Amino acid sequence: MTAVLVAHSGRHGGTRQIAEVIAEELRETGLTVDLRDAADVATVDGYAAVVVGSALYYHRWRPDAVRLLEHHARDLAERPVWLFHSGPCGPGAALHQVSLPANVALLAARIDAERTATFGGRLDPATVRGLIPRLMASGHRAGDFRDWDRIKAWARDVGRRVRIGVPH
Ligand SMILES: Cc1cc2nc3c(=O)[nH]c(=O)nc-3n(C[C@H](O)[C@H](O)[C@H](O)COP(=O)(O)O)c2cc1C
Repeated sequence: MTAVLVAHSGRHGGTRQIAEVIAEELRETGLTVDLRDAADVATVDGYAAVVVGSALYYHRWRPDAVRLLEHHARDLAERPVWLFHSGPCGPGAALHQVSLPANVALLAARIDAERTATFGGRLDPATVRGLIPRLMASGHRAGDFRDWDRIKAWARDVGRRVRIGVPH
């Protein structure tokens, strides 16, 4: 069975839920999927492909997701890798494409990752701590801007490409 690793890192569970939906869609295309917190990934050996997703905080990826890319760059470069990040909130969030932070863009180039997907995020003022974060999470930005149909379609496309074997 072709095995795929889906690794995620966030703070408030929104990115993990995206990773769960991606994993489910990949399973439905017939792939075997391991879903892991990026902090818990010890190796990428044995996986035909890897998906890594991070929440965006202050224009940066979460440290655990960056560490995963750094520590396993050589092994990741040997297999197809898809990246996604979740962040934009508020009106138009679904259409907003965010560039990779510079440090992650360098790693993505080293790994020769596929094009990064940006998915909208979720901001719940009740779960956010600190004055500035709470201000950021208030008003028109508060809410759930994750487009599940888009996320599922992206995952199915990844699954299809893993099964046919994207040239790498
Ligand atoms: C303090 C703070 C900073 C944020 N910074 C960004 C950012 O720079 N870019 C962005 O697109 N989203 C940003 N967001 C939105 C989060 O990425 C979004 O809420 C995401 O869904 C959080 O994922 P998580 O629930 O997995 O932590 C920020 C949110 C907070 C609370």
